[in-house]
Amino acid sequence: MGKALYIKTYGCQMNVYDSGRIADTLAPLGYTLTDQLQSADMVVLNTCHIREKAAEKLYSELGRLRTLKQARNLNIVVAGCVAQAEGEEITRRAPWVDVVVGPQSYHTLPQLITRIDPNSRNAVINTDFPVEEKFDYLPTPQHSRGAAAFLTIQEGCDKFCTFCVVPYTRGAEFSRGARDIIAEAKALLANGAVEITLLGQNVNAWRGKNLTGDGDWSFGRLLFALAELDGLRRLRYTTSHPLDMHPDLYQAHAEIPQLMPYVHLPIQSGSNRILSAMMRRHSRDEYVRIIERLREVRSDMAISGDFIVGFPGETDADFADTLRLVAEIKYASAYSFKYSPRPGTPAANAGDQVPEVVKKERLASLQQLLSAQQQAFNQEKLGQVLEVLVEGRGRHKGQVVGRSPWMQAVHFADDSNRIGDMVEVKISAIHKYSLAGARVTRYAA
Ligand code: 5AD
Ligand code: SF4
Repeated sequence: MGKALYIKTYGCQMNVYDSGRIADTLAPLGYTLTDQLQSADMVVLNTCHIREKAAEKLYSELGRLRTLKQARNLNIVVAGCVAQAEGEEITRRAPWVDVVVGPQSYHTLPQLITRIDPNSRNAVINTDFPVEEKFDYLPTPQHSRGAAAFLTIQEGCDKFCTFCVVPYTRGAEFSRGARDIIAEAKALLANGAVEITLLGQNVNAWRGKNLTGDGDWSFGRLLFALAELDGLRRLRYTTSHPLDMHPDLYQAHAEIPQLMPYVHLPIQSGSNRILSAMMRRHSRDEYVRIIERLREVRSDMAISGDFIVGFPGETDADFADTLRLVAEIKYASAYSFKYSPRPGTPAANAGDQVPEVVKKERLASLQQLLSAQQQAFNQEKLGQVLEVLVEGRGRHKGQVVGRSPWMQAVHFADDSNRIGDMVEVKISAIHKYSLAGARVTRYAA
């Protein structure tokens, strides 16, 4: 009899990818994915530790699962970055958890599961950063996301920005080899994907073994190789760091039509003083020049970013610098957060923490500006014909939803469409979170 696996994913796209791979590793043991928590035999919480009260959220979720587990047979697995950071503490505070596994060791889940002892109050724990490479142990991906798939090519981070927990939870920077990446991309395409988003904490820092393994490729070179694969209509990558913008990446944007004109390039703050306290190791002007260059090689290039307000020591003048930078760049979309002290990171111990009320005010005014920019960017598309990749059914009957090259959700009426089709849609309405229009043509399959 097959067993039902329920996975709840928190946080970034890399966790979404990892959750798919966790499903892949458990499939040979008879587990199939369910979206019904009530009928699950195993629950995996794939957690995120990047901001605010991550551990508290986990323990309250575990409290709810405990009730379920008292009623019937259920295995509980805690995976992801909170698992890495909390480790044995999870066993102490929630002894009903069966397995604790970190982001670099989930390929060992099949073995860990065999060691579950229903009578023990100790979880089976593996939070190692193993010497062997987890990607070498994972089966070919089966659980990708339809037309648009994720592919992790780089993990971990050596940059140690002073606010960030990633170098501690995901470990040192590591790039997968090109041969491995291309094989996985081919498997995704064979599975029906037409768009691939390459993932990495610092994806543009990727530098890996070439196909023959006797030399290295740059990130730009990898993009050129992927663009040659049959069936790949769209290529994206995220998240990038301004320090790793190399010449061949600009060249890739200039020459690869499938490489989408949308780059997520966080700066975090527009103040040079704060950038240096964050250890970002570049200036505001260097960032501005990078964006200018991206726009030179692709005139339709859209930029997205991340911002932190209320980093320790941030003054009104520093924050005004951030607002000025945003006004200058004009973002198509962006994420912004209140600074949240992460245990074990240098900035968490700084004396000059910014009061919560100030963080809140600054976040509200930054978000107002960013949201106005997003609206303006969307508004530009009114009346235009956009290329849309169909990703699924819309909320209403006969309606489908897809994405524009700039990640905008586009709704339009169509009952004949198949997921994965690329169509042209004339935009007739701009809503808060999406665009709507009518199909103009269908490309030959
Ligand atoms: N507090 C607030 N935001 C943070 N981020 C990372 N660490 C923190 C923190 N301690 C944000 C950054 C990063 C995004 C993924 O999360 O903006 O780019
Ligand atoms: Fe965190 Fe900085 Fe590394 Fe990004 S570059 S993962 S913000 S330490």
